[in-house]
Amino acid sequence: MADTLHSPMGARRQPSRSELLVHPRLTLAEHPLADALLAIIRDSRSGPALFGESSSKLATFLLWEACRSFQTSPDAVPGFSGAPVEVRRLATRSAGIVILRAGEVFANPFRALFPDAPLYHLGIARNEETLDHRVYSDNVPNLSIPTDRVLILDPMLATGGSVVVTIERVRKVFSGRIDVVALVSAPLGVEVVLRADERTQIVTAALDERLDENGYILPGLGDAGDRFFGTVAG
Ligand code: PRP
Ligand code: URA
Repeated sequence: MADTLHSPMGARRQPSRSELLVHPRLTLAEHPLADALLAIIRDSRSGPALFGESSSKLATFLLWEACRSFQTSPDAVPGFSGAPVEVRRLATRSAGIVILRAGEVFANPFRALFPDAPLYHLGIARNEETLDHRVYSDNVPNLSIPTDRVLILDPMLATGGSVVVTIERVRKVFSGRIDVVALVSAPLGVEVVLRADERTQIVTAALDERLDENGYILPGLGDAGDRFFGTVAG
């Protein structure tokens, strides 16, 4: 009992998976290919190269899902027969915010899908003893983000602290819809984030069971930053 009370998570109540699965602002993006990618990134034997490649593929899938409600506008192009063909162009503008370090897994997938969209970086470190969050780097604009949609990109949504700090920062310069895109989430993090901001939605490939006493997602995949960059926690 004493160990539980003195661990980083303390006696904090965690909601169950089933409580959050029905939340209207959570999208659990399921797909057989996403399952196959999750199998690789959850496997502790997968090294940084395989982890990075598989995370990147999963990130691309989740970005497609997050953009499902984007608007398009009509246009026409000359078709192969010479006659004009009606097409649709993307009308919703997006901006990405990568939470360093591990959010870097989203950087190339985001760039590939939105070559002209701004991609900002916010460096946030989670103190593993207290689970407090500290911003150590910030290049998010101070006046406004000229976009229709902000996508917050981080592979892990655990206590939700990193994302809440990011939302608070974004809200100083953007009042529209925010989508949090996470590879793996815990019910607590989903609850905390959705309570923190009513115009925020979450897209994730996995809603896991819970956090362990140190705030790590179970079954999870470990420390995403260390897995991606091949470093050791410490
Ligand atoms: C990890 C992860 C998230 C955060 C999630 O970052 O990339 O940003 O933890 O946990 P939370 O929901 O409890 O905030 P970490 O602080 O370990 O930094 P790193 O990416 O540099 O490893
Ligand atoms: N951050 C990670 O990288 N993994 C977790 O399980 C929780 C926070």
